[in-house]
Amino acid sequence: MLARLLYRFKQFWFAIAAGMDDEDRNFARQYLNLKEAALFFSLPGFEQKHAVVVARKMREEGKGVRGVEERKLIRLGLLHDVGKAAERLSIIDKSVLVIAHRFLPKLYDGLAKKGEADKSASFYRKFYVHKHHGAIGAELLSKIGESADIIAEVKSHDRPFSSHDLYMRLLDFADSTY
Ligand SMILES: [Fe+2]
Ligand SMILES: [Fe+2]
Repeated sequence: MLARLLYRFKQFWFAIAAGMDDEDRNFARQYLNLKEAALFFSLPGFEQKHAVVVARKMREEGKGVRGVEERKLIRLGLLHDVGKAAERLSIIDKSVLVIAHRFLPKLYDGLAKKGEADKSASFYRKFYVHKHHGAIGAELLSKIGESADIIAEVKSHDRPFSSHDLYMRLLDFADSTY
């Protein structure tokens, strides 16, 4: 429990400190088409950085794994959290959401439920978007004509880990270590 808490704090400070540099931006552009990039760059800087770090980790983990296509793996890393672009989530919001999700799951779920409608108060909407950012990301991606394959993968991000395919399992690992 304490180790978990410390890990979250570390994550929090790292997230505050981390910003995108030119190399990160070029990395994202190299793997995303123009519409995907526009969506990606509408995320707050710390979320962009998170996605780049996750994508690079996935590339490392996926090396030599049979049946895994490197480009798809990296693209998934970059796009897995684009649903968060639906609501402006600051680093403080994110910390509150992550901590509530972990330690007060019932409250988190209840507040998320209240944010279901598009016009809900932004306080509740943030919980909703945070909880369902996989499905919301899939929706945003389908609007820009993304392939069914990537849409399905991003959508499964909200679902239990046990239902994940090899790509998503590699994503889960990279996502949880940062
Ligand atoms: Fe996520
Ligand atoms: Fe993530």
